[in-house]
Amino acid sequence: MTASSADGRLNNTHRALERCWHPVARSGEIGERPARVLLLGKPYVAFRSHGELVAFADRCPHRLAPLSLGSLDGGQLRCAYHGWCFDRSGRCVEIPSLGPGAYLPPAARLQAPAGVHERFGMVFIAPQEPLVGLPSIPEAEQTGFEMLELAPTEARASAGLMADNFLDFAHFPFVHAGTFGTDESKVLAPYEVERDGFSFKVVYEHPFANREDPGVAAGIRPLVQTRRMTYLYQAPFFLSLRLEFLEARGTSVIGFFIQPEDDERCRLYTTLWRDDLGEDPAARADAIAFEQRVLNEDLVVQSRYDELSLPLDLRTEVHTRADRNTMELRRVLAELVLAANS
Ligand code: FES
Ligand SMILES: [Fe+2]
Repeated sequence: MTASSADGRLNNTHRALERCWHPVARSGEIGERPARVLLLGKPYVAFRSHGELVAFADRCPHRLAPLSLGSLDGGQLRCAYHGWCFDRSGRCVEIPSLGPGAYLPPAARLQAPAGVHERFGMVFIAPQEPLVGLPSIPEAEQTGFEMLELAPTEARASAGLMADNFLDFAHFPFVHAGTFGTDESKVLAPYEVERDGFSFKVVYEHPFANREDPGVAAGIRPLVQTRRMTYLYQAPFFLSLRLEFLEARGTSVIGFFIQPEDDERCRLYTTLWRDDLGEDPAARADAIAFEQRVLNEDLVVQSRYDELSLPLDLRTEVHTRADRNTMELRRVLAELVLAANS
């Protein structure tokens, strides 16, 4: 193992993750009030100033008070403690205790992350110059797909282990027996992993229990059907799964975006892109509720890990050919750690 993490593991606050993009909020959560978000163990303050999205370290340069306690004053951020005021570039423009026209120390500047961006109805931050781009989801740009958002889920979890869990498809008959898991998908056929830089893709067809299909209840189609899964992993914690239902028709894309908040906690954003729900609000609500049940099934296991980090040294765990994609996850992240250190 050559990755420099001291014990060959990737925890939620690993320094290499500073060189990556991470989701920190749904777009609707960031408005014209300072909001505090936590990323890699560090708080940031995010808000919109005259429509422009901005974020800074949540620390006033004066007495280090949390700026998220402050307020917006004409689009400028005013600290709640002594009222220092900062423009949207982070420059201090007023120190009330010195009176008008006073000399303002140049060090009175807010610290901005390397990048702030909005995509798929989410706000992303890159604390340091990112080594990898923002995620892309082709269906998000295609007509015919509508976007459905699950409420963000807070959990005691490791981002690396959650990514591992999303990519893993040997657990379906066990963890998801109550939703879509079925015994027919227990044995996994060999599959290929298509690597591309810090991302990879896997395509796999398998039987599954289509409990969401109204055709099953109507007796038109059998419960166990076939679906084609296309997994797309993009470092560090962006995952999508395109599901094509070969009998019932329709396509569903599950996007899963993980915010490593601190060593013990993650905030999880699940977004669905569906082309098969039509205008029916009940069908949309059902799709969201179903996906939340699936996530909750996963969290039963994921939140109970004693050690909340992903082993990057392949000798730490036992791997089989059924684990090819999750081994690739470890390789990509180990390379990312190396790249961040070089
Ligand atoms: S701590 Fe912010 S103005 Fe003093
Ligand atoms: Fe799962």
